Amino acid sequence: MIKKIAIILSFFVFGGCSSNDRVSREVFEEVNKSMEIKKVNEADLIKEALKWGNEISQEAQEQLIAALQNAIAEKGVPGAIEFCNEQAFPILEEMSTKYNVNIRRASNDYRNPKDKPLDYEEMILDAFEYNLENELPVEPNIQKIEGGEVLHYAKVIQIPGALCLNCHGNPETEISPDTREKLKALYPEDKAIGHKIGDLRGIWSIRIPRKEVVKRM
Ligand code: HEC
Repeated sequence: MIKKIAIILSFFVFGGCSSNDRVSREVFEEVNKSMEIKKVNEADLIKEALKWGNEISQEAQEQLIAALQNAIAEKGVPGAIEFCNEQAFPILEEMSTKYNVNIRRASNDYRNPKDKPLDYEEMILDAFEYNLENELPVEPNIQKIEGGEVLHYAKVIQIPGALCLNCHGNPETEISPDTREKLKALYPEDKAIGHKIGDLRGIWSIRIPRKEVVKRM
């Protein structure tokens, strides 16, 4: 309908079959296209954000675990601590830039103080903790923040296996003295120890701009 009006309009303005006609029509169509507002249904938007958040968190997790396993194979567990210290943030930053989102991890029992939860992350962490304690499901979720301009994706990170306990387990029996020493030097306020398999270790916290989700629809 808008297109039709534009074409009729261009006909009048430029006098129909003048040589300008084709050019003006193109210009009008271009303008109309740029003014077209993509109508998105909110439920579909949330669904898309959730799907994308699942994909991004999966990829981020795979990258970190692969890098961690390589570092342990090359340098042993104590050596891999420096690797995590130096590389965890850059790896997530690079992925964030690639997708135009902001990917981070947050934890109430944080090791790196930069992973201390923000207010809205703390609420989600507490809800996940409650659900896990009460054996309720812990599904990834989307919250609208910043007036709906940002869709915040959250997913639990649980301790999946014994590999993690080398650095997050019982400090007396599971973390070696060398590793303990390295951890103490780099993270004097470390809270990320004493975990068991299945424990809540934190969340994936991904800020996805609404417009980036709309682009994908
Ligand atoms: C080689 C030791 C090591 C192993 C093994 C390890 N981590 Fe960590 N983890 C670290 C270090 C060091 C940090 C802090 C990274 C930083 O400074 O950015 C960390 C941070 C984290 C964080 C971010 C929150 C925080 O506490 O700062 C999560 C979540 C996490 N680890 C989960 C895991 C899981 C799950 C596993 C098992 C798959 C695992 N880690 C295995 C050393 C390790």
